Amino acid sequence: MTAIKILTVLMVLIGTIFLSLSFQSAKKISAGISEELHQKWLIVLCLIGFFILGYIFFDLVLISNLPFPDELITGGVFLGGAVFVYIIINVSHDTIAARQKAEEAIALARDDWQTTFDAATDVITVHDMDFNIIRSNPSAQSILGLQIEEGMPLAKCFRSYHGTEKPPSGCASCQSLQTGKPSTLEIFEPHLNRHLEIRAMPRFGKDRRLIGLIHVVRDISERKLAEAKIKETLDSLRKALAATIQVLVSVVETRDPYTAGHQIRSADLARAIATEMKLSEGQIDGIRIAGTIHDIGKLSIPAEILSKPCSLTTIEFSLIKEHSRQGYKILKDVESPWPLAEMVYQHHERMDGSGYPRNLKGDEILMEARILAVADVVESMASHRPYRPGLGLGVALDEITKNRGVFYDTAVVNACLRVFNEGYKMPD
Ligand SMILES: [Fe+2]
Repeated sequence: MTAIKILTVLMVLIGTIFLSLSFQSAKKISAGISEELHQKWLIVLCLIGFFILGYIFFDLVLISNLPFPDELITGGVFLGGAVFVYIIINVSHDTIAARQKAEEAIALARDDWQTTFDAATDVITVHDMDFNIIRSNPSAQSILGLQIEEGMPLAKCFRSYHGTEKPPSGCASCQSLQTGKPSTLEIFEPHLNRHLEIRAMPRFGKDRRLIGLIHVVRDISERKLAEAKIKETLDSLRKALAATIQVLVSVVETRDPYTAGHQIRSADLARAIATEMKLSEGQIDGIRIAGTIHDIGKLSIPAEILSKPCSLTTIEFSLIKEHSRQGYKILKDVESPWPLAEMVYQHHERMDGSGYPRNLKGDEILMEARILAVADVVESMASHRPYRPGLGLGVALDEITKNRGVFYDTAVVNACLRVFNEGYKMPD
């Protein structure tokens, strides 16, 4: 009997320890929860405390008065109850701590968002499904003159952004509402006298249901102005370059009409080949311009040699071969978007390294120069020269076909053959 009493008392003591620990946890929870939950938790705490005190009292009465085995059962029930309370309190503690952490993270994110929203220099507006602006940041208020306050009628986004009575065509909001995806529109707004980049993003509620849009709008007026100025500068540079090239062409024309005609026809053929090869528009322009002046170096060769009606001596020919280098020297300081001087320097190089003046081979030769080389050979052979009559287009095309992949780039030769097969004719 004594042993049972001792065991029962032990169980009550251990149970009391668990209850004490439960109180500690309960106090921690009480300290950590929000104001709103605090009062509710105090009521729960009082109820638990009241229940535990009553339970201890009840158990002590039972242990001292009841005969075996009820004492042992009552002690066991007390211990079990205390452990149960301990587990419940601690599980609650963990749950409440996790919830509190999540609430803190949400509050921090909300504060961060609000700060960003207020500080952004871009216009930010939040819209409902009926094109009403329901919220806007200070930038929207200063740029669009929006005042969104409680009790005021909501502003329609198309009135504020576009000054219209309905969404304009290409409207970013309409696109985004239709697709559920972000949409961007660059537009000039005369009523604001500003260029705007409007980015509309869908706004989703519960179950990913579309509930409106968020607009992030950037004033790109300064960028547009800078772009227009750059374009204007580039246009005037292009005009200046075109005038320079025309002067060079005229000089050649005055001194050596054969070379002038050859350059014009070679340039046109080179342009056609480059177009057939689907090079970029910029590259095609560069090839055409380089073509019109590719023999400019011949200005340094005595006119008697250039217009000599019979075959040239070895020395005379070596003088003529210098014209690529001389052309490079004339053009190397001309500012242009293309490597004009280098194209001219390389237009007599051959893929196998047998060309001149530097014996470049393969990839050392610019693609533009490989195209010029083929156009130059075809035009030269097909046309009449001071020292011989024209050999004809057939002979010229046979030459590039025979030496395709040896002297001349294979892709360029193939493109040249296609160009003539499709009916191309060199200008007169
Ligand atoms: Fe040449």
